[in-house]
Amino acid sequence: MAMTKHGEDPGQRFAPLEMSPDEFRTLGHQLVDRVAEFLAGLPKRPVTPGESPVAVRTALDGDGLPQRGSDPGLLLEEAASLLFDHSTLNGHPRFFGYITSSPAPVGALGDLLAAAVNPNVGGWTLAPMATEIELQTVRWIAELLGYPPSCGGLLVSGGNMANFVGLLAARRAKAGWDVRAAGMAANPGGTLRAYASTETHTWLQKAADLFGLGTDAVRWIPTDARLRMDAAALRDAIRTDQAAGDRPFLVVGTAGSVSTGAIDPLPELAAICREHGLWFHVDGAYSGFAAAVPDAPPDLVGLREADSVAVDPHKWLYAPLEAGCTLVRNPRALLDTFSYRPPYYHLDASDEAPINFYEHGPQNSRGFRALKVWLGLRQAGREGYAGMIAEDIALARSLHRHVDACPGLEPRTQDLSITTFRYVPPDLEPGDEAVETYLNRLNSELLTRLQESGEAYISNAVVGGAFLLRACVVNFRTSEADMAALPGIVVRIGAEVDAELRPREFVKAG
Ligand SMILES: Cc1ncc(COP(=O)(O)O)c(C=O)c1O
Repeated sequence: MAMTKHGEDPGQRFAPLEMSPDEFRTLGHQLVDRVAEFLAGLPKRPVTPGESPVAVRTALDGDGLPQRGSDPGLLLEEAASLLFDHSTLNGHPRFFGYITSSPAPVGALGDLLAAAVNPNVGGWTLAPMATEIELQTVRWIAELLGYPPSCGGLLVSGGNMANFVGLLAARRAKAGWDVRAAGMAANPGGTLRAYASTETHTWLQKAADLFGLGTDAVRWIPTDARLRMDAAALRDAIRTDQAAGDRPFLVVGTAGSVSTGAIDPLPELAAICREHGLWFHVDGAYSGFAAAVPDAPPDLVGLREADSVAVDPHKWLYAPLEAGCTLVRNPRALLDTFSYRPPYYHLDASDEAPINFYEHGPQNSRGFRALKVWLGLRQAGREGYAGMIAEDIALARSLHRHVDACPGLEPRTQDLSITTFRYVPPDLEPGDEAVETYLNRLNSELLTRLQESGEAYISNAVVGGAFLLRACVVNFRTSEADMAALPGIVVRIGAEVDAELRPREFVKAG
């Protein structure tokens, strides 16, 4: 059991995980140099390694748990190489997949600092400055959105968790019985009902399932031609359920749908909630922060009327993963939902006590997620963020124009920073069922090959049964040149795939 190292003072402990200040400094500088080179070289790297799972696993030493320790310098070198060479690079200027942003470098440095100090932001006394920074970050996020800065809120792991917290606060406030103590089975009346559009992200199913409502409790409201919730259908659904003795309690509005960026008519949904005494929650995980852009659409700005809002700093605030945030209009609502005060916490629980975040959300020990967000907000400021988000939106619109001008591509939706389209070989006429089936297969395979190629990374949406290619720009490294290049890449790969897959009946003679 070697505690000391290199014959140092035997009275002094030197554990296998300890590092001398000099060693830390040397290894830290080496790592930062490598990361800086990696960031500088991003545009020249493929966006994806395009390797099979077996190849990636093989690159990793597959031996069992090491019995003896190793030199941390070599380990950091190796870990950096493994990650640089075998990762999908969402910091690449041509990464447009899903809704994952390029991470701000200041956030990466912030994570290093947060990990080094390691405050436990569950309790104020365990993390005095970190707690105050998180409180300030939550307030600044509210200000950025135009939400009342007197709100409650906290940082969580991401959009799913941020929405879960909103749903739990809604249930606590509106169920009409003590769900926390008595559980869902004690429901004295009709089924609790939540309402959301059919375009809502799958967090709602998970939440309804996990928290005992059951997914059948959700009424999926149809959308209009622009994939926004049909408010008249919402009114009808609420009335029908009320007449049947059910208990509507929650309407979820989406501010930027995951597939196409559709924005529900939030002011109208807020009015319906007021009329019926329902909790209004807005899922702004994708585009809540676009409310900071001066010409933000009024429907989006309507998130300011919500009882709770979920936003995702690891999306459009470009914070490195993970960082989500829930805001709740009534700051008591989170305490009412999550607080317990066990005797083994010697924390100040008086009314004048500073905040203990463990009482405001599902987590107990909490990391210092706020630092990377706070640093980003200070580095770019409101103007910087409004500018970057506006530019991302302008780039996605520009892509739509490039697609429109490109033979072989069919533009479909364009909302916020999401543009969808598909490859349609110039000699094929879409519409016929068999052709549509083939186009879905063709575009699906095209997407797989494009992702594997490493030339650019996009994802997909399915709209009205059509498999579409989907580019989402939440990337401050993307430029107009990247937008101009994408259609050509898609058409080239599309033509190759078409040549391989085209069914014989669609091949024109001659
Ligand atoms: C509208 C919306 N809500 C929720 C989520 C889930 O967010 P996360 O992946 O951060 O949990 C997403 C993710 O893309 C989203 O687009």
